[in-house]
Amino acid sequence: MTESFYKKLLDNVSDLIWAVDMEGRFMYINDNIKEWGYDKDELIGKPFVNILNTRRIGKRESEISMLGMSQTFEMEIIDKRGKTHKVVVKSSPLQGDKGDIIGVMGIIRDVTEMQLLEQKLKNEERMASLGLLATGIAHEIRNPLSSVKMNLAILKQRLKPEGVDIEHFEIAQEEVANLEYIVTELLDYAKPIKLDLVRLDLAKAIENALATIKGDYQQKKISIRTSFDSEAPMALIDEVKMHQVLLNVLLNAVQASDSGSRIEVITQFINTPPEKLRIIVNDSGHGIHADDMKYIFDPFFSKKKNGAGLGLSIARNIINNHGGDIRIDPLPEKGVSVCLELPAN
Ligand SMILES: Nc1ncnc2c1ncn2[C@@H]1O[C@H](COP(=O)(O)OP(=O)(O)OP(=O)(O)O)[C@@H](O)[C@H]1O
Ligand SMILES: [Mg+2]
Repeated sequence: MTESFYKKLLDNVSDLIWAVDMEGRFMYINDNIKEWGYDKDELIGKPFVNILNTRRIGKRESEISMLGMSQTFEMEIIDKRGKTHKVVVKSSPLQGDKGDIIGVMGIIRDVTEMQLLEQKLKNEERMASLGLLATGIAHEIRNPLSSVKMNLAILKQRLKPEGVDIEHFEIAQEEVANLEYIVTELLDYAKPIKLDLVRLDLAKAIENALATIKGDYQQKKISIRTSFDSEAPMALIDEVKMHQVLLNVLLNAVQASDSGSRIEVITQFINTPPEKLRIIVNDSGHGIHADDMKYIFDPFFSKKKNGAGLGLSIARNIINNHGGDIRIDPLPEKGVSVCLELPAN
């Protein structure tokens, strides 16, 4: 085999392969370094730590000089473009022709995508068991609750309450109605969703949802700015369920916003395969604490006084059933950006 064959082989491996001398300067690095925004030539002869704009997992920065020993560890490397890669680094001593140690060689494998996938799978499993638990409870509550409701109604009629007692009855009846709502939503949540798909203009669906919550945002003097992509094709969606998704997302934005602020609703058509339709809702509200981010799609997670914590879990369920995805990211200034992505087919 020729030298160029081996060179090609190394350059075509999907991992990053490198070798440094005893001073920790690059002697070799394969072509994959381009993916990290670096040019091979700018690194040869430069210290290894140059690419280690890192936050290490498990080990401290200073230990990096101990790369000489055979070892495997995980770390996060921020590449030249500022993208964070979760990587597994394997290193071992590099022997020269005479068997002496002349440096260190190793492999860096990017596991970012794999970890995201694992996370997603874990999350799905967690949601499935949470859903099962929640519906089990909802089921048990439903019958006693209708008995409470019925008996309250009978008592109210029989006792003919007066004055404040009327109010006590009314509060009890309202709370029962609230509980009934939660139980119904929960049971709905766990039912396999049957979609009634029709071709719909997303912009119209958004306008309809905005009309429904007009009272809510006008009361807070919130202005809504819409910007719809005129190229966007009709989407194949379940109109009623999508209305529910939009209401949940838009209401969350209104509830998080200060009065007088603005909410932006944008649609985008991504016309590179796989073609997608995006709905983005940006608010400049109080935002979501970083620690809470991983819980916001869980059923019953709510930071609101009267929140059931079901809005986003229901929305995600519906969007996933459409073959789409929902993401929430913090905005740099203030507030959050909710992105709904649907297949455009
Ligand atoms: N746009 C937003 N800005 C800030 N926080 C948000 C936003 N959207 C959701 N959240 C947070 O996520 C939590 C969960 O939202 P979700 O819609 O599932 O439940 P909820 O709004 O509390 O109750 P429900 O929708 O059932 O009435 C909220 O309590 C809130 O803390
Ligand atoms: Mg909500």
